[in-house]
Amino acid sequence: MIPNKVSPDQNQAPSNALREIRAAGLNHIGADVPQQCANDLASEMTAVANYNSAVKLAAEVGDNATREILEGILEDEDGHVNEIEEKLDQIKQMGVQHFLAIQAGE
Ligand SMILES: [Fe+2]
Repeated sequence: MIPNKVSPDQNQAPSNALREIRAAGLNHIGADVPQQCANDLASEMTAVANYNSAVKLAAEVGDNATREILEGILEDEDGHVNEIEEKLDQIKQMGVQHFLAIQAGE
């Protein structure tokens, strides 16, 4: 059943959600799309660095099965970096309003 009225508690949900996000250390999301993309890019680049380190460690200990799995994940993460860099370049080239209009139309 879908309630037809929003309770006062539900009206407080966004601020509660924000408090939970901040408590979880996830407050780096960003206030607008360019900042969100920039923060995402930083996170993806951290992931790439960490997976590179993990690949190196797996190779050093001779765990080639794990190394191959990590290399696959690393390739995915590198693709994420490329996707976000492409979006940031589009925002820079066409402006955020035009970028968002295109995204909304897809
Ligand atoms: Fe990623």
